[in-house]
Amino acid sequence: MTTLQALQLLSLQVGSIGVTVSATVVSAIAQWFWIVVVSVSGVAGAATATSTVGVAARVAGVAVRTAEVTHFNWHVVPEREKKRHKNAAEPVHSPTMAGGLFSIDREFFIKLGTYDSGFDIWGGENLELSFKTWMCGGTLEIVPCSHVGHIFRKRSPYRWKAGVNVLKRNSVRLAQVWMDEYAKYYYMRIGNDLGDYGDVSSRKSLRDKLGCKSFKWYLDHVFPELFIPGDAVASGEVRNLGYGANTCLDSPARKTNLHKAVGLYPCHKLGGNQYWMLSKEGEIRRDEACLDYAGQDVILYPCHGSRGNQLWFYIPETNTIQHGSSKKCLAISSNRQKLLMEECNSSAAQQRWRFDNYDPSKLR
Ligand SMILES: *[C@@H]1O[C@H](CO)[C@@H](O)[C@H](O)[C@H]1NC(C)=O
Repeated sequence: MTTLQALQLLSLQVGSIGVTVSATVVSAIAQWFWIVVVSVSGVAGAATATSTVGVAARVAGVAVRTAEVTHFNWHVVPEREKKRHKNAAEPVHSPTMAGGLFSIDREFFIKLGTYDSGFDIWGGENLELSFKTWMCGGTLEIVPCSHVGHIFRKRSPYRWKAGVNVLKRNSVRLAQVWMDEYAKYYYMRIGNDLGDYGDVSSRKSLRDKLGCKSFKWYLDHVFPELFIPGDAVASGEVRNLGYGANTCLDSPARKTNLHKAVGLYPCHKLGGNQYWMLSKEGEIRRDEACLDYAGQDVILYPCHGSRGNQLWFYIPETNTIQHGSSKKCLAISSNRQKLLMEECNSSAAQQRWRFDNYDPSKLR
């Protein structure tokens, strides 16, 4: 099975169940978690995982920008992980998995409480199992040389209750139990409307009983590359102070908006397409889209974390936003329709900006 077939397999899996899942919930989850096909093994069971499954992470990684399937997000294997290996065929650690195809030590699976029986049908169980595997002493890894076949049913055998967003309900349950103070970032993306997610007390006591580590530990040790909204140096609207001071950076940041010019619109203070975050690394971003300047238009490009064309300096003393590699400053045209990059000139009003909630202490 080539990697491309594996990707097609995954999208087929989604389509074959015939679910129309909420795009907002899906994208909120997708941007938060790194999802790949893997094998799971417990501490004691590291050597006992039976058959191994998966796709080549490195190849999958290369496919990130072009072959994203419905609700998976593929990331390149980070350098820190590559360094742990001598051979590219060795299993690599992954923060999460897709959930359909894995092997796990039976005893460890039972110890972890198997699946949350409060979940319904489909969705989120892969994240629950991924988080608790890591947080409760296991490791989760992709096995590049494994091969797996997947037989699909012709139709979904489940009865979907009308009016219940199963994926959201399952996801809220797992956020309640496993994500600690970070659950709020997920809740924000679903409009803080948690809905009825049932009783999670027995799942919380399971976590206590197992003495599992915190979600902060998981983020720090298992997925340090993940951008945490709370670490943003500035967040909110990015308002230009020239020509009436009522023009804001405005663009949707879905996959279809990538590689397109960043727009401008009268400021509306409602967040949404005018909500941007300045990361410690100097990115101006929303979800996985970053402002990127390569000499033509300022576009949205998938955040790559390597600074370069995505490095911006917000200088509050002059209210300018300077681009790292070109040294030019972000500006707007006099008709307020187009973003420009100009030679920096702090007396030029069209180059002045105010980025909401700027907190330089977050730079440290
Ligand atoms: C800087 O901007 C001011 C105000 O727009 C303008 O008068 C001045 O000529 C500019 N300086 C340069 C070097 O372009």
